[in-house]
Order: sequence, then structure tokens, then C-alpha cells
Amino acid sequence: MVKELLEQRRLPELMKMKDGTEVTAENWAQRRLELVDILAEYQYGRMPAYDGKTTAVIESSERSAAGKAVTQRVKITFPTPDGESFTFPVSLTIPDSAKGYAPVPAFVFISFGYPKYYPLEEIVDNDVIVAEMIMNDVAADREDHYEGGMAPHYIKDGQRESDTFGKIGMWAFAASRVLDYLLTLDCVDKDRVGVMGHSRLGKTALWAGANDERFTHVFSNDSGCSGAALTRMKVGETFPRIANVFPYWFNEKMQEISVSVEASEQAPFDQHFLVAAIAPRKAYVASAMEDSWADPYSEYLACHAASPAWEIHGLDGFCAPNRLPIPDEEYTDGCVGYHLRPGTHFLSRYDWIRYIRFLKGTEDDWEELPF
Ligand code: GCU
Repeated sequence: MVKELLEQRRLPELMKMKDGTEVTAENWAQRRLELVDILAEYQYGRMPAYDGKTTAVIESSERSAAGKAVTQRVKITFPTPDGESFTFPVSLTIPDSAKGYAPVPAFVFISFGYPKYYPLEEIVDNDVIVAEMIMNDVAADREDHYEGGMAPHYIKDGQRESDTFGKIGMWAFAASRVLDYLLTLDCVDKDRVGVMGHSRLGKTALWAGANDERFTHVFSNDSGCSGAALTRMKVGETFPRIANVFPYWFNEKMQEISVSVEASEQAPFDQHFLVAAIAPRKAYVASAMEDSWADPYSEYLACHAASPAWEIHGLDGFCAPNRLPIPDEEYTDGCVGYHLRPGTHFLSRYDWIRYIRFLKGTEDDWEELPF
């Protein structure tokens, strides 16, 4: 059934190089770069080159999560191409347990900064570090003609080339700067550092993970259109709609492929390219049943379509049945995790708990997670 549903979508071929060569484990690294390049050219814009001189200052520190952790306010600074620098804050919570012998997993959580659900105590009880970065501290989520945040350091007078990045690219770039800092900390397990975001920030987490291979796990919560959902035959939000309402999230060329639904369905990529660009690392896509704007089935089918990118490495890709999912099902046996939460568009405790499990990767210490 899944095969037929995917055939109807007429997706661009993932497992062929641009020159027509079959994709194998040997040329995967090159194919991955092609995927990132095509998504940068048509949709998100190119990530600026970066030489890695990120610095951090701990501004304050307080006991948190009922006294089981410390939350630090850290100012992250990175040099910008105009010879200046940009600084933004991160809220970094380190459980006391992380001061033990073994380093612990960590999330870079790209956040709206207003109460979307953020279960700090559960995260801490499960010995996981979380670094929360708020999108508006990096670049405002509105049409400001690139005058605020990090944008003017990269874009002069609001003038962009067709492949200059938009806000999604800026938030993703900043998530990598948070990662620069986390990777300097002894308490962080470098083999388990995930990037996570909800909705527009789920799109951002996928793009951050596609670009930065140091993220070992990538979590997309209800990311929908131009996130994990296939564009071809998608219901709910479409490219013309998203490009019209949120042009500043994307590059300029996104407008050209978004003049009509037909034009967007002719683009030389679909969103399974974005999920696949995370291979052979771990990806997790989560949907909510009532989130028809994002389109849960188009997210689920993208996971199936991306799965060969893991299989060529001899890994299990997306281990899910040959049918559409029903609410409350989760598939986490392969390198691509998925769940379909009952309910509406939201980042819930239900979602977080599954992300914690997937990031930890072992069943030993799951008792504290009741769901
Ligand atoms: C809007 C937008 C979506 C986006 C969502 C969000 O609904 O159309 O693409 O994912 O906002 O970020 O909450």
C-alpha cells in the first residue's frame, strides 16, 4: 500500500546522483551534499561558511528543576563576515547527574520562547542536558527586511541574492553555534547530541541537522510544509501559501517554484531529500493526528521515501508497516523514528518523552517515563 501511495506522488529520485549514477554507501557522502545543495538553492538558501571561533560566557547560574539541576544563562558569540560579531543567549540546563563519570546526552532545543510545552523536570530526571535557544533572539520571526538580529551582518540593505538564506537558515546556523559550545563541555556525550524544534522550528531543526553532521539525532515535531511533509499531493498548507505568508523564512528562489501548486510539484526535489540528508545519523519525525495543516500522512510517507538512504549502509531505515499509521502508533526500531500522536498541532509531553527515549537509545533507564 505504501509503495502505491508513494508512486502516486511521483517523487524526484532520491537514490540517483545528479549524473544518473546509482547511489551506494560509497558515494553517499557526495549525494548527501547534492541534496543539501539543491535544498539550499531552491528553498532555504545557502549556509554561510564558518571557521568555528565561537565563544561563550556564563552570565548567571541558578538551581532549577526542584534543585536537581543548574540552569545557566550563557551568551554565545560568533564572528560575522562584516568583521563584527553577533551574540545571543541560551538557557542551558545541566542535571546534577551529569557531573558523574559518564557524559550525558543533550538537546539543542530551538524554541519559540513562549509556553510551548517544555517539561524540564522530566528531561532532568532522565539525565539529559537541554540548551534552549529562542528564535527571536537570533532573527525576528517577521518581515523586518533583515534589519534585526544576526541578519544585517550577512545581508546589506535587505538585498538578497536568489540563494541567500532566510530566517530558517539563520536559526539553523545559530543552532550550530550552540552546538559549537556544547561540544566543548565534558558533561556532553558527543555521540548523542540532538537538535529539536516544533513546527517552523521543526523545519529549522531538519535543516540544521541536514547541514551539520555533528548533530547525531534530529527531531522534527509537526514540521509540515517545507519540513518533513512531502509537497507533492500534500493536503493543508502548500508551497504557494507558505511562500506568500512567510517569504522571509526562505530564499528568493522559493518564490519562483511557489507561483502555483503545479509549479511546486515540478521542483527537482521533494522533502524526503531533507529527511534523507540526515542519513546515516538518526532522524525522528512526529505528527499529530488532527494537524491536517501539516499533513501527518505526508510526513509519514516522507519517512518511507527517505528510508533507502539508510538501507544502503546496511542499516534499518524506517521500520513501519505497509499501511498508513493510526494514532498512538510509534515506530522506533530503525534509524528513522516516527510517532502519530492523537490530538492537535502542539509540542507536548508525549512528544518530548519519545524524543528523550530515542536520543538515549537504551531501554535501561526508561522507568521514569510513564508513557
Ligand atoms: C503556520 C505555518 C506553518 C508553521 C506554523 C508554526 O501555521 O503555516 O508552516 O509550521 O505556523 O510554526 O506554528
